[in-house]
Amino acid sequence: MQPLRNFLSFLCLGALSWKAVAGTTYFQSSDYSGGALGLGPYQTYKSSSSTPSAWNFVVPYNDSTSDQIESGLIFVAPRGTNVNSPGALIYDKTGELIWDGTHFGQTLTFKMATYKGDSVILLWTGSVAGSGVGSGYDLILNNKYEIIANFTAVNLNGSLADFHDIEMTSNNTALITAYQAKTWDLSAFNITDGWLLDSVAQEVDPSNGSAIFTWTASDHVDPSSCFASPGTTGTSADNPWDFFHINSIDKDSAGNYLISSRHCHAVYYVASSGDIIWTMGGHNSTLTASDGTTFAWQHDVRWHNDETQISLFDNEGTAWELDSSNSRGLLLDFDASNNSFSTNKQWIPYNVTVSESQGNVGILDSGNTLIGWGQIPYFSEYDANGQFLYVVQFGVGDVQSYRAYHYNWTATPNTRPSVFVETDGSNTTVYTSWNGATEVDTWQLSGSTADSPQLAIPISNTSRSGFETAVSVTDSTKNFTFFQVAALNSDKKIIAYSNFTASDGSQQDPAANQTVDSSSSSGSNSTGSSSSSGSNQVVVDSRIITAVFVAVWTLAFIV
Ligand SMILES: *[C@@H]1O[C@H](CO)[C@@H](O)[C@H](O)[C@H]1NC(C)=O
Ligand SMILES: *[C@@H]1O[C@H](CO)[C@@H](O)[C@H](O)[C@H]1NC(C)=O
Ligand SMILES: *[C@@H]1O[C@H](CO)[C@@H](O)[C@H](O)[C@H]1NC(C)=O
Ligand SMILES: *[C@@H]1O[C@H](CO)[C@@H](O)[C@H](O)[C@H]1NC(C)=O
Ligand SMILES: *[C@@H]1O[C@H](CO)[C@@H](O)[C@H](O)[C@H]1NC(C)=O
Ligand SMILES: *[C@@H]1O[C@H](CO)[C@@H](O)[C@H](O)[C@H]1NC(C)=O
Ligand SMILES: *[C@@H]1O[C@H](CO)[C@@H](O)[C@H](O)[C@H]1NC(C)=O
Ligand SMILES: *[C@@H]1O[C@H](CO)[C@@H](O)[C@H](O)[C@H]1NC(C)=O
Ligand SMILES: *[C@@H]1O[C@H](CO)[C@@H](O)[C@H](O)[C@H]1NC(C)=O
Ligand SMILES: *[C@@H]1O[C@H](CO)[C@@H](O)[C@H](O)[C@H]1NC(C)=O
Ligand SMILES: *[C@@H]1O[C@H](CO)[C@@H](O)[C@H](O)[C@H]1NC(C)=O
Ligand SMILES: *[C@@H]1O[C@H](CO)[C@@H](O)[C@H](O)[C@H]1NC(C)=O
Repeated sequence: MQPLRNFLSFLCLGALSWKAVAGTTYFQSSDYSGGALGLGPYQTYKSSSSTPSAWNFVVPYNDSTSDQIESGLIFVAPRGTNVNSPGALIYDKTGELIWDGTHFGQTLTFKMATYKGDSVILLWTGSVAGSGVGSGYDLILNNKYEIIANFTAVNLNGSLADFHDIEMTSNNTALITAYQAKTWDLSAFNITDGWLLDSVAQEVDPSNGSAIFTWTASDHVDPSSCFASPGTTGTSADNPWDFFHINSIDKDSAGNYLISSRHCHAVYYVASSGDIIWTMGGHNSTLTASDGTTFAWQHDVRWHNDETQISLFDNEGTAWELDSSNSRGLLLDFDASNNSFSTNKQWIPYNVTVSESQGNVGILDSGNTLIGWGQIPYFSEYDANGQFLYVVQFGVGDVQSYRAYHYNWTATPNTRPSVFVETDGSNTTVYTSWNGATEVDTWQLSGSTADSPQLAIPISNTSRSGFETAVSVTDSTKNFTFFQVAALNSDKKIIAYSNFTASDGSQQDPAANQTVDSSSSSGSNSTGSSSSSGSNQVVVDSRIITAVFVAVWTLAFIV
């Protein structure tokens, strides 16, 4: 954790000549939570067409809690009928956009992972069926946002990767989910010509698309032994009975799989042979459970602490049934020698309510925990004692995010920064942003004249302030036609040049001699946390400076 407040005095001195115009974050706004700002309030920019959801800190952080907030970036993927542009978004911790990945469309699983030693993004793409399952492709993006793998489920009679999970193993293989409709004898339910929606866990090698392991739920679990009856389903290939509903897969050092079944309220520990070693929860638990451990309709089941603990998001409800007054994050202690489990801790939502679908639990190294509340558009960070550090609302109506994550992600896009020039009489304002860049510390503004459009004449340096930084150009004596920015990292090295851009939108490429030394950015090779940990530390600090500045700047208006 970083000492956030150490930067405060520095920030107040350095930042005042620049205004953050880009994003808008709300603090305990009843207009926001009451819907007066719309059901899916979003931010807008001049230099970008992005419209990321705006945040409302329903529990804001303050001087006493800000020290405890873990540094990093937030990954969410808002979707729902009230989301202006559904899809993957990365924010800093103040609600300022870092990356808009909505060009990939609506997504559910969207997370960071390590692949072949590098930090990467895992992102599901595809179509979502009304039955709550997906069909599509899983992407791996490097830290320039380039697609380095595109893979899906294989050998399943055409069923493709579902959205419920992508988990990278230490062997650089991916654990993915798939759903498969098949005919099934449902005469016991008085259904002739019955159809089952089977759940499949598959381990795939993204580098060649081959399957290493395939586990089909109906081979191991009796469909009638779970909690979801066919109801009106099971009658056709388009309306099959989803008896199991797989939604997460984890794999441990022993090579066994931890598979979550929402509709069986159970977690299955599965050997590489496919055999179930034990079952936790549900009608058929083979483990001894202590009081308070019962979970229902759960999501996101993960191992922790050398397979001695399991975390999960305990929904406690679904669209047709509520089992409790609230969902909760749950950490279970697992005692392998006694085949038993017990509750270690639980996290209760701020807005005590049931999230009927989705949700996840992210336990961070410091002991802080970030919980995404799934169908309810909130996420919250808790300290190690389970106290709120802050709670963020990111919509009011039909706005949901399958999960919310917290990572140290660094990236330098392979695109150029974007510039928008606005003139008002003799005044010019240059707006700049660079979608996905995490390493920009300073924007260096230059101008050029119509005679020599690619000859950059330096104007000023400006600290980055949020997704979009606005710079006022007061010196009109040079008669600049074009404006260009260079992005400087915290070592004051140039990591990118924008086009030369005029107020009418016309553009000129950067000059031939404006080349970037890629070793000063995140590199031509997608370096992750494995490289130069010394400079990574600097990078983390600069991000916090930006984050804290925006927070303090915004808080100044509400206190
Ligand atoms: C990010 O890195 C900092 C510094 O190493 C660390 O304190 C923090 O826990 C990390 N955050 C996350 C979300 O991993
Ligand atoms: C800071 O926020 C925490 C968590 O919401 C709260 O418990 C505490 O009372 C707040 N402290 C101050 C000084 O406002
Ligand atoms: C991934 O591969 C599939 C199948 O080739 C293709 O249809 C899809 O467009 C690819 N996705 C991206 C983002 O390129
Ligand atoms: C199937 O139909 C029979 C005869 O109508 C009825 O007794 C039985 O309860 C039904 N079973 C189910 C599972 O609906
Ligand atoms: C419960 O156990 C029985 C016997 O081992 C098995 O046939 C059945 O599939 C199990 N059901 C579930 C939901 O695990
Ligand atoms: C990685 O591969 C080794 C060798 O095949 C195997 O023993 C191990 O269980 C695998 N681990 C994971 C997490 O897949
Ligand atoms: C909790 O959230 C629901 C759904 O967004 C909302 O209707 C309700 O007013 C909220 N309750 C509180 C106490 O904030
Ligand atoms: C820069 O100009 C090129 C044309 O030379 C254009 O393709 C590109 O989209 C522009 N980049 C940005 C960020 O506007
Ligand atoms: C130009 O900027 C100056 C200084 O901020 C301001 O006083 C003036 O009103 C502006 N002019 C126009 C036309 O906006
Ligand atoms: C800038 O343009 C104005 C109006 O076109 C002109 O009067 C002035 O001489 C120009 N200044 C320079 C330095 O070229
Ligand atoms: C590019 O060349 C121009 C003209 O010689 C020079 O003024 C400028 O400083 C050079 N820029 C860089 C980045 O080397
Ligand atoms: C990056 O470089 C490292 C060290 O040279 C290498 O191990 C790794 O495979 C490279 N990654 C990519 C994506 O090329």
